[in-house]
Amino acid sequence: MITTTDQLKWTVPGPRPLPILGRAAMVLRFATDSIGVSRDLFQTYGPVVSLTAGGGTNLYSPLPNCPGTVFTYGPEYVRQVTSQHEIYYKYPLSGGLYRKRDESKRTEPLKHFGVGLFGVNGLTHRQHRQLLMPAFHKQRIDSYRDNIVAITQSVLEQLPIDKPTDIAEVMRLLTLRVATKTLFGCDLGEEGGKTGRTLQKALAMQGTVGVALLPFDLPGLPYHHLLNLMAQLDDEMRVLIRRKRASGTDDGDVLSMLIQARDAESGVALTEDELLGHTGVIFAAGHETSANALTWTLFLLSQHPEVAADLLDELESVLHSEAPTVEQLQQLPLLERVIKESMRVLPLIPWNGRVTSQPTELGGYALPAGTEVLVSIYQTHHMPEVYPEPERFNPKRWEGFEPTMFEYNPFSAGSRICIGAGFAMLEIKIVLAMLLQKYRLQYLPQQRVERCGFIVMTPKHGMPMMVHKQDRQFAQGVGGVQGNVREMVQLPG
Ligand code: HEM
Repeated sequence: MITTTDQLKWTVPGPRPLPILGRAAMVLRFATDSIGVSRDLFQTYGPVVSLTAGGGTNLYSPLPNCPGTVFTYGPEYVRQVTSQHEIYYKYPLSGGLYRKRDESKRTEPLKHFGVGLFGVNGLTHRQHRQLLMPAFHKQRIDSYRDNIVAITQSVLEQLPIDKPTDIAEVMRLLTLRVATKTLFGCDLGEEGGKTGRTLQKALAMQGTVGVALLPFDLPGLPYHHLLNLMAQLDDEMRVLIRRKRASGTDDGDVLSMLIQARDAESGVALTEDELLGHTGVIFAAGHETSANALTWTLFLLSQHPEVAADLLDELESVLHSEAPTVEQLQQLPLLERVIKESMRVLPLIPWNGRVTSQPTELGGYALPAGTEVLVSIYQTHHMPEVYPEPERFNPKRWEGFEPTMFEYNPFSAGSRICIGAGFAMLEIKIVLAMLLQKYRLQYLPQQRVERCGFIVMTPKHGMPMMVHKQDRQFAQGVGGVQGNVREMVQLPG
């Protein structure tokens, strides 16, 4: 248990809190635009900075009396924070909400959803990760290929041609269906599939301002609605787990596999509560992320016609208009580079959070126990020392270039590295390969493209694009992009 008593003096540099509004104003500014605010702080104070001078802010830590918030970036600090597991602990992303887990029967589900692997450290984390690993082994992941292809096919067939369509929404639905199918073994419309929808609603509500500002269980308030959803979810998932457990078979989905999993030494299985937690986190971490990786990549391709043309040449020469097999994915090096470069320049998870379990030191500054430390994946990926012309979307830079995992870490680094990275890459590659052979997506002139979101970076106004049958007219719709995406990546005129 971390105690935050006997605190050291806070020395990490940062801006002085504004008069009257003080620290709350900085927290709000950061929550509104974490990338812009932190970029300015790094420029002014260096690679280890505090959200406010003197500390006293709390963005992520669910512990009481958080001494303050520190931001950092760069390979050396990424290494220290992601590989010193006994010093840098991980906590559920639901932060302040998680604190309310023991208040009543109604708040109990907050213990499970959005917690899973994120909520365990040390030996427990190692044991649980071991239990989960088989569901993410390469062989197992490859077996999800047919489902991904079938769902992608059905989504692509329904895309309206020559009409503006919000591609962010399409990708969200696609990955939601894939996550539901691979996790629970059912598609959204099927029995059991509706649990995917409930889970999505509950997770989306967890991060809303209304829930954060008014966490009171009173009818009419969003927090009350969230607790109702959680209760419904709890019921639905327990029924699903009991049904799958009673059948005693591995149906090929992740949940069946987790139910069957046993600790190698003790033979102990995951409890029902633990299953709820892990399933919730795998689901949460697994579809919103891939959806945004796809959306940002499609946007970048729409603004880089030569890359789009070369990529289509590669896809057609290997796949001949068909969906890729797992083996064929190995023969598509440009596809891999495009995705890597997209996740470098616009990493959809811009931050990686930890809380110090004991007093420590970072960049020459003493950090008290309980300090929240947020590592900027975004800023690390934009270091000119590692990536010349960092704001240029240039998939070619990956030819013969292999940065360390501390220099390039869209999936984080160390033993907490994203367990679903292989699955995500499989899904993103299949969807792009199928979509780009069939359609050309054109950016609609004058649409604003703005970043938003703290945990997952999403386009604030969605991504409306025109869907054309693939006609190779890649120069159409290039240029004229408005919005703060231009601060992150160089775009034509
Ligand atoms: C493009 C897609 C994705 C990105 C960029 C991404 C990124 C990340 C990052 C940055 C972390 C934090 C690691 C840390 O704390 O150091 C993480 C953890 C995690 N991710 Fe992903 N992820 C993606 C897709 C997925 C998918 C598809 C799944 C599951 C199907 C998944 C499941 C998880 C889980 C369970 C963890 C917790 C790992 C642990 O604490 O041991 N992720 N991911």
